[in-house]
Amino acid sequence: MLYALLKTLHLLAVIVWVGGMAFVQFFLRPSLAQVESPPQRLNLMAAVLERFFAAVLVAVLVIVLGGAWMIGEAHQQAVATGGRLVMPLAWSLMTVLGLLMAAIFGHIRFVLFRRMQRGLAAADSAAAASALAQIRTWVSINLAIGTAIVVMMGLGLPR
Ligand code: HEM
Repeated sequence: MLYALLKTLHLLAVIVWVGGMAFVQFFLRPSLAQVESPPQRLNLMAAVLERFFAAVLVAVLVIVLGGAWMIGEAHQQAVATGGRLVMPLAWSLMTVLGLLMAAIFGHIRFVLFRRMQRGLAAADSAAAASALAQIRTWVSINLAIGTAIVVMMGLGLPR
């Protein structure tokens, strides 16, 4: 029961993270041209990203800690039945790629986004815009990795 609950939370957190990145990249960003003044555009993006990144921070904790707990539980089940856990390849790949995504998120949130906020605070639009451009690139990379994990888990790996 707890396993099923954690798996459900894991999936909900993945939806918030991957779905949120898709929304920002494919829907919000192209529509920003409607806002005429570039500083206003940057301020709007900073406000949206601040809220989104706070949610992603929680999602990352739920995904990584819940994922680790599920692996521990599977290990205990295997030991209890006299065997040992042989991690499916898909689980190992998901763990490695998931940790890579978490590290990339850390770089986005705590290096690039802070740089963007500092640029805005100093009314240095060029610095803020350059940090935002880098955030965009890294979010695209995380979106691609996250989508690849979901496709891999959905389709299963060929044997
Ligand atoms: C450290 C990171 C992660 C760990 C340790 C982890 C671990 C796990 C585990 C143990 C399961 C349960 C599998 C099962 O019961 O069949 C699972 C399910 C799943 N995970 Fe992760 N995960 C991680 C990150 C991610 C990320 C980043 C994504 C997607 C962006 C993801 C997507 C999924 C999906 C779609 C499932 C459901 C698979 C199914 O029901 O067959 N995981 N994860």
